[in-house]
Amino acid sequence: MGARPSFPIVQIPRDRIAVVTGGNTGLGYEIAKWLAMMGATVIIGCRSEQRAVEAIERMNKEYQQMKEEFGDKHQLQTYDSLAVSFMPLDLGSFKSTLQFVDEFKKSGRNLHILVCNAGIGMAPYEKTIDGFEKMLQVNYLSHFLMVAKLLPVMRKSGPDCRILFMSSDAHRACSFDVETMNYEGNASKFGRLDYYGRSKLYQIMQMYSLARRFKDTNVSINSSHPGIVDTEINRNFQDSFFWSVIFFKGSKLLGKLKSPIDGASSIINAAVNPELAGVSGRYYYNCTDGNHTSTSRDVNKQEALWKQTMEYLKDYITDEERDVLENISS
Ligand SMILES: NC(=O)c1ccc[n+]([C@@H]2O[C@H](COP(=O)([O-])OP(=O)(O)OC[C@H]3O[C@@H](n4cnc5c(N)ncnc54)[C@H](OP(=O)(O)O)[C@@H]3O)[C@@H](O)[C@H]2O)c1
Repeated sequence: MGARPSFPIVQIPRDRIAVVTGGNTGLGYEIAKWLAMMGATVIIGCRSEQRAVEAIERMNKEYQQMKEEFGDKHQLQTYDSLAVSFMPLDLGSFKSTLQFVDEFKKSGRNLHILVCNAGIGMAPYEKTIDGFEKMLQVNYLSHFLMVAKLLPVMRKSGPDCRILFMSSDAHRACSFDVETMNYEGNASKFGRLDYYGRSKLYQIMQMYSLARRFKDTNVSINSSHPGIVDTEINRNFQDSFFWSVIFFKGSKLLGKLKSPIDGASSIINAAVNPELAGVSGRYYYNCTDGNHTSTSRDVNKQEALWKQTMEYLKDYITDEERDVLENISS
């Protein structure tokens, strides 16, 4: 727990507010914990209250241990406890996603850091209650909806607001075609790597589309590949011998899996590093620029994706929110 992380430890004021989706375990847990240990007020959006409450208790325990073990060597804030709280969020349901956003807005809080981290990987085909392939909705569409709804808050929250997408190098292993985006009638032609890879490709493309629209504003947008990381991600593909045993357990046996804090470092760095204020449109790996595909950088494809996404979400995004999202109302 004590090794010095690869991002700078900065002093974040308590009135700097962060939302981390999926902050109860894995990468999101480390991101939420470190933002809070540096001083931020953090809201973790999670689908299980029990898991969220247990996670917050664990964060506080680790914070106390860290303070005792290292004194001020880590230069962490010295609060009695972390300002982390939980709000219910199930990204597999637009209703739940909208409820999360409404509750957040009702609180009247600013929003300075939005980490779209929660996700499922390599799961078999399944449709959500809203009729979308599950990884498409959980990893991409619902996060897009959150961004659309929360951008008006971020635009008014003062300088240096940051949106971060937890993507994946799995985006390399899929095709791109908006016509088959929701696999209507052709799901069996695609595999789980395609479903997952596409959802992660869309996050990088969304990052570029937003970075273009919000150039030189108070909001910057970036993304990251964490590496292959030893989290609970493997629970999503227990039914697949190849992915759960050969790929995941095999990587673990070979010592190829990163720890959650190592995997989370790029996003934490992008969220807090003062030198990255205003930097937008980057795909980070190990806190530096990572390789990503020409498809993910293709502006025409990004705009085709944007158009189709807006079509899918047209019943949920108001005209006013659409104007803010297109940055034509400021
Ligand atoms: N681990 C890797 O090797 C790796 C590699 C590349 C990218 N990533 C990405 O990193 C992100 C975090 O994954 P992880 O490795 O930390 O996996 P993890 O340990 O399984 O954590 C995933 C988090 O997402 C949450 N989540 C899943 N479905 C959700 C839903 N419908 N609504 C709200 N939250 C939901 C989980 O909540 P519950 O605990 O309630 O299920 C959990 O908090 C994901 O986007 C993943 O695609 C991971």
